[in-house]
Amino acid sequence: MIIVLVGYMGSGKSTIGIELAKVLDYDFVDLDAVIAENENLSIPEIFSQKGEIYFRKKETHYLKDIISSKIKIVLSLGGGTPCYGNNMDLIMNNNSVESFYLKTSIPELLNRLWIEKQNRPLISHINSKENLTEYIGKHLFERSLFYSRSHHSIVTDGKMISEIVEQILLKLI
Ligand code: S3P
Repeated sequence: MIIVLVGYMGSGKSTIGIELAKVLDYDFVDLDAVIAENENLSIPEIFSQKGEIYFRKKETHYLKDIISSKIKIVLSLGGGTPCYGNNMDLIMNNNSVESFYLKTSIPELLNRLWIEKQNRPLISHINSKENLTEYIGKHLFERSLFYSRSHHSIVTDGKMISEIVEQILLKLI
């Protein structure tokens, strides 16, 4: 099985993915890390030196590569991955994949992203909490259409990492 974690920037895909992989004894794969490693550049460097379109092409390329060649992995996507090209079809049409949307409220995303925005090229330039709230609100509204196609949705607000992992495990039985 391939467990795919979907959700907005700051929804906890990597944090949850690492813990879930430990419990299942699966490998954890972070799509952004795969792209950065293969390109020999950080995600902000890819955006600034090669542009977002280049990044999106690589994102689809490595997504295809991983889901067609790996088993027993927890794969954490980038926040934008489900929303470009036919990425969500690639995920949903693969019988080995079980996908989970980590659903986090705007206030919670704001708290996390305000202090972690520097490595995220889409929001690193936003200079006030008001502007970041507005950006997240509009962006999440557009993106949630794609995220909601996942097999399962898990609300993350107010939950500990272990509780979220537990809820995912319960859906897998
Ligand atoms: C992006 C999210 C990032 C990364 C890139 C673009 C997006 O991943 O892929 O900066 O479009 O939402 P995280 O969701 O892990 O921050």
